Amino acid sequence: MTASESLLPATDEPVFAAGLLAWPDAPAIRERWRADGYVAAILDKQRPPELPPVLQEEAGSVLNHADPEGYLLRRRAIRALAGTVTGRAPSAFRIIPSAAGAPGLAGTGLWISFSGRPPYSAVLIARAPAGIDLEDLIPADDIPWNILCENERSHLQALPPPARGEAFTRLWSAKEAYAKALGQGFRLPPESLLVDRNGDARFVPAAGQSPLPDGRTRTAKGQTATGKALIIAMALLSS
Ligand SMILES: CC(C)(COP(=O)(O)OP(=O)(O)OC[C@H]1O[C@@H](n2cnc3c(N)ncnc32)[C@H](O)[C@@H]1OP(=O)(O)O)[C@@H](O)C(=O)NCCC(=O)NCCS
Repeated sequence: MTASESLLPATDEPVFAAGLLAWPDAPAIRERWRADGYVAAILDKQRPPELPPVLQEEAGSVLNHADPEGYLLRRRAIRALAGTVTGRAPSAFRIIPSAAGAPGLAGTGLWISFSGRPPYSAVLIARAPAGIDLEDLIPADDIPWNILCENERSHLQALPPPARGEAFTRLWSAKEAYAKALGQGFRLPPESLLVDRNGDARFVPAAGQSPLPDGRTRTAKGQTATGKALIIAMALLSS
């Protein structure tokens, strides 16, 4: 790997124009859909916006989830977004996971993605394959150096120590969003997912593995009402 192949994502891109913890109203959702082809939003389960009710089958599928409230909130939110962008009733949509676990909006051709860091959830709906991720800011002392490529390690180590935790979290979150956009999650080894300084992402297949589409990622840092820092990443696959 050369120095240009795996650097850190661009910083402070305003990908979430709807704003951390602000649920967009219907005109804003339609405007973003028209302009960008995707809408992303962050929710706080302690202060949820007005959303469509839980469907019986969603309530039935929540068993054993670590955060059942967040799970249901994400599904209600995505059906609300889908209803707004398509003009159909939110109750008309069914969220069905692929064999690899990627959530899908059955019969629509639309792409959705979820992430949860209780009490917060991130949801994304897009016209094309896309992924979203939400991470607590990881302190520099907790960086798992062993799961990074040599190039990523040396790039982080070259930063001043106080900047390393945030840089790592942005890199990791961008990889995870890209892994979700590919529909695989971390079934793909993180070291095979390279995200460069501009946020461009690509998959490096091992021998015998098929190539996968490139993507572009963006990360942003948000501050919650309680002062907690969250990193949000979004990835869109290149067509
Ligand atoms: C997808 C994955 C990266 C999510 O990681 P995480 O940090 O635990 O969780 P996040 O809150 O960011 O994301 C959770 C969402 O990922 C989504 N997800 C799960 N598998 C996915 C996949 N293959 N592609 C895209 N999204 C996926 C789910 O919809 C889930 O949302 P839900 O809880 O509302 O259903 C991780 O679960 C993974 O890599 N799974 C595949 C590998 C696997 O199954 N490992 C088992 C343990 S070894």
